[in-house]
Amino acid sequence: MTQTPTLGTLQPGAADSTFRPDLLAGKHALITGGGSGINLGIAQSFAAHGCRVTILGRNLEKAQTAAQGIIDAGGQAIGVSADVRDIAAMQAAATQAVEAFGPIDIVLAGAAGNFPAPVDGISPNGFKTVVDIDLLGTYHTIKACAPHLTTPGGNILSISAYGIPVPMQAHVVAAKAGVDALTRTLAIEWGLRGIRVNAIIPGPIDGTEGMARLAPDEKTRRQFMGTVPLGRFGIPQDIANAALFLVSDAASYVTGVILPVDGGQNMLGGAPQYQMYQQMGLALPKKD
Ligand code: COA
Repeated sequence: MTQTPTLGTLQPGAADSTFRPDLLAGKHALITGGGSGINLGIAQSFAAHGCRVTILGRNLEKAQTAAQGIIDAGGQAIGVSADVRDIAAMQAAATQAVEAFGPIDIVLAGAAGNFPAPVDGISPNGFKTVVDIDLLGTYHTIKACAPHLTTPGGNILSISAYGIPVPMQAHVVAAKAGVDALTRTLAIEWGLRGIRVNAIIPGPIDGTEGMARLAPDEKTRRQFMGTVPLGRFGIPQDIANAALFLVSDAASYVTGVILPVDGGQNMLGGAPQYQMYQQMGLALPKKD
C-alpha cells in the first residue's frame, strides 16, 4: 500500500527514490506556490536530489518556513515573496533568486487559486482573480525568469488542470486551458534554444489545500475517490516523481507535453464529477 508522506518534511527522497540521488546536482529551480501542497512536495524532492531551490510565495513567512524545512533536512533553499499577478514583483524575486543561487535551470509555475463555484455563483472579479493567478501568473513567472534561464538546457514546467469541462471549475479550466496553450506554443518557440516546456495535470492529491477545498468532508472524499480509476487519491510524491522525470535528461526529447498524473481520472471526462455535484444538489438552480 502507498504510504502518505508527511507534508512539510523533506521526503526520504534520495535514499528511497526511483531516481539517482544526484539527479539535479548543481541545478537551481524557482518554484512558485512552493510553500505548501504539491509544489512543496516537488521542492522537497528536487532538493533531495541535489537541486538548490527558490521557494516563491505571496506569504514570505510561509515561503521561508518551507525553505527552512528543506535546509534542516540537508538541502539548499531560500524563500522569497511575490504575488504572481505582479510582474514587477516577479522580476524582483527572480533577481533575488539568481543572486542567491545563480542562473535558473528549472522554472516550476505552480502557484494557483481555486475554489469550487458554479458559473452563476462567482462574481466577475472572482473569475478574473483565478484567471489572473493561474494564467497570467504562469506567464509572469516564465517572463520574469526568461532572462535568467540556462540556455540551452533550461526547463519550464507548469502545473495545469484538465482540458475537459469540470463542473464548478469553469474559472479554473478556462485559465488552465490557457496554460496548456502557452505551454505548447512556448515549446515550439523555445525548442531551438534548447529549452523544454511541459506541464503536469495533477489528479486529486491528498493533503493539499486544493483537495481540502474541493472535498471538505469524508463523504465528498469518498465520492471523489469513486471518480479515479486507480481508486485512490494521489500523494505529493506522485507529482514530484513526474516532475523529476520531466526536468531530467531522461526526458530530453520530451517537450510540449501536458502529462496527467491522476490515476486515470481524466479518461472518464467530467461526467463522474458532474454526477457527484448533482447528488450534492449543487447543479440545481438556487431558490431565492
Ligand atoms: N466562491 C465564489 N467566489 C469566491 C470564492 C468562492 N469560494 N472565494 C473567493 N471568491 C471571489 C471573492 O468573492 C472575490 O470576488 P468579489 O470581489 O467580487 O467578492 C474574488 O474571488 C477575489 O477574492 P479575494 O479573497 O479578495 O482574492 P485573493 O487574491 O485574496 O484570493 C483566491 C485568491 C480567490 C484564489 C483565494 O481562494 C486564495 O487565496 N486561495 C488560496 C490558494 C488556493 O486556492 N490554493 C489552491 C490551489 S489548487
